[in-house]
Amino acid sequence: MPAVPNAALSPLLRFTGIRLVHTALRRDLAPMSGRIRAVQADGGPAVADVSAQWRLLARILMAHHEYEDACLWPVLRVARPELRLLLNRLEADHHRIDHDLTVVTAMIGSLAGDSERAWMVAAAVESVAETVDAHLRVEEVQVLPELAAVVAAGAHIGTLGASLAAIDAAEVFDVGAPGDRAPTDAITWLLDGITGVSGGCAEPIPGLFPDPRTA
Ligand SMILES: [Fe+2]
Repeated sequence: MPAVPNAALSPLLRFTGIRLVHTALRRDLAPMSGRIRAVQADGGPAVADVSAQWRLLARILMAHHEYEDACLWPVLRVARPELRLLLNRLEADHHRIDHDLTVVTAMIGSLAGDSERAWMVAAAVESVAETVDAHLRVEEVQVLPELAAVVAAGAHIGTLGASLAAIDAAEVFDVGAPGDRAPTDAITWLLDGITGVSGGCAEPIPGLFPDPRTA
């Protein structure tokens, strides 16, 4: 018997995987401006380390955009043609965000010779983070519920496995990894900073993007 769309299943559950990826993206973007400001301080992070962390985050975000544009939105374009303007806007967002990520990558790299401009780069990072958050919110509130209504129950599309496989397929972890705490694949990245339990004592696993106030 062919699978049928399961409209009764909450879209909050159907696309938990994508929401987890979104949560991890927000997690990594949030401390980045603080880390950039901290490069000026004594004992602050090295520009090279912050730059490597940013470049990895940018590659993951771009890979996620590619997955949505190639695998998710086409399904909705067929099933819900009336949403084409919204989907066009989301794709335009992806192009603009990808461009902004590249600009910020260059700005962070320039700090190696002029850390005095860290405040300006941090402001640019905050702007990108706000844009990404608003973009993700539109997807979560306006698009994922529509997608949940048209994707067959049990389909692989939009699952956590499919979302992470798309990031792994982009080989984002193979180039310029940021130090010995770098994730080696998408699931390691997703779980970065999760609290482990050993011998009855909860110990936090060191995060890739530590908060500069607590690192
Ligand atoms: Fe998106």
